[in-house]
Amino acid sequence: MKYWQPEIETMPRKELEALQLERLKFMLITAQNSPFYKKLFAEKGVEPNKVKSLEDLRLLPFTSKDDLRENYPFGMVAIPLRECVRLHSSSGTTGNPTVVLHSRKDLDEWANQVARCMYMVGIRDYDVFQNTSGYGMFTGGLGFQYGAEKLGCLTVPAAAGNSKRQIKFITDFGTTCLHIIPSYATRLAEVMYAENIDPRKDTKLHTLCIGAEPHSEEQRQRIEQLLGVRAFNCFGMSEMNGPGVAFECTEQNGLHIWEDYTIVEIINPETLEPVADGEVGELVLTTINRQAMPLIRYHTRDLTSIIPGKCPCGRTHKRISRFKGRSDDMLILKGVNIFPIQIERVLMMFQELGSNYLITVENIDNNDEMLIEVELNDLFTDDYAVLQNLTKNIVRQLKDELLITPKLKLVSKGSLPIHEGKAVRVKDLRIF
Ligand code: COA
Ligand code: AMP
Ligand code: ZN
Repeated sequence: MKYWQPEIETMPRKELEALQLERLKFMLITAQNSPFYKKLFAEKGVEPNKVKSLEDLRLLPFTSKDDLRENYPFGMVAIPLRECVRLHSSSGTTGNPTVVLHSRKDLDEWANQVARCMYMVGIRDYDVFQNTSGYGMFTGGLGFQYGAEKLGCLTVPAAAGNSKRQIKFITDFGTTCLHIIPSYATRLAEVMYAENIDPRKDTKLHTLCIGAEPHSEEQRQRIEQLLGVRAFNCFGMSEMNGPGVAFECTEQNGLHIWEDYTIVEIINPETLEPVADGEVGELVLTTINRQAMPLIRYHTRDLTSIIPGKCPCGRTHKRISRFKGRSDDMLILKGVNIFPIQIERVLMMFQELGSNYLITVENIDNNDEMLIEVELNDLFTDDYAVLQNLTKNIVRQLKDELLITPKLKLVSKGSLPIHEGKAVRVKDLRIF
């Protein structure tokens, strides 16, 4: 069989839209049980029973990441906490992180969504699926774990890091499929070749699910050639559960977004008005099948477009294009989301430091690296041992905040560039 859920995946558009409307109406009624939406609906005069068509969605207010932060930890939850069985949270110790809660049904639906994606690209129950995503709070860990288990794969929760161990698992367990972020896929291939393992001959790898960070078609092709596999783009975000929101089919021409779970809009980020199919804008998503934490018109900040026309694979769910960037300053490094403000908050805790800093992100020998240069306060010492100790201390705090280990360079006051009176904060030299 070609589809995991043929009746849903190939549902005629009219029926699919009728299903969306029914689910949207139900979601709006239940969303009022969350303190956040209750207040928002009252303030904006939203009456769920006035929503009569999918077009009426445009009359509803947007939800942003700041709303999640301001309502931390449980202000967005629409069911009693005792009915919630899982919580995922973003990184960060200095500001409020975002939190997403799930009911048991939410987790079952999410696993189904991921299984549907994996089945779509030819992964079956006889496959050995190794997940190199971070577990714990990273949704790519448990998200793929439950999806792969639902599909019936022999699932290896290898988690992130330790390339030699990953390779041992791949060869010893006969791993056929990997979930891996694109930048790490090239790093892993490099370590394999250095170990005299040719992944194309010496492993059983055939399919990769790659996502969680921007990457180009050229990068995909390079990964496919290096590892002798087909690699499929997967999109997810924690606020929308995690992986499984949209996924490429075997046509490798756009990601099908599962519209029985999510309503997709693409808007002009400035006017907030919808853009035409084919035009790039901000992706805005509404959950229509989630109990614990419904989100209405969520600003993802990701820039993409709807690919017009039907997909030859027969699925009727819309396709979105490879991401073109973001409308905010979030960086993704080693699969970890980083806002420059997080770095600033840590640096500003140290009285020894001045206020000018520069973040450079670069791919060095197949590793994405972050270098933070920060000016010292002009009154501070030039004693080497003291500076070394300070560096160590700052890096430790940064690692706690960011979950990656940056390189840190302390420089003298006035040595970093200033442009038009405003410091240039981030230089991203990676090519996507
Ligand atoms: N996934 C898996 N392993 C990764 C990775 C990634 N995205 N990025 C780097 N690594 C590997 C490195 O290659 C290194 O292993 P090796 O030296 O044996 O080859 C090891 O992890 C440590 O990397 P390093 O760069 O020294 O450490 P760090 O402290 O800066 O980063 C990580 C630590 C990699 C564990 C952290 O960035 C992480 O957990 N990333 C995964 C996030 C994730 O899963 N996101 C997906 C969400 S869907
Ligand atoms: P997280 O909430 O940690 O899962 O991160 C979600 C963000 O990662 C998204 O909003 C995107 O910016 C980015 N992302 C996830 N998947 C992809 C992908 N396939 N291509 C490009 N960016 C992605
Ligand atoms: Zn398709």
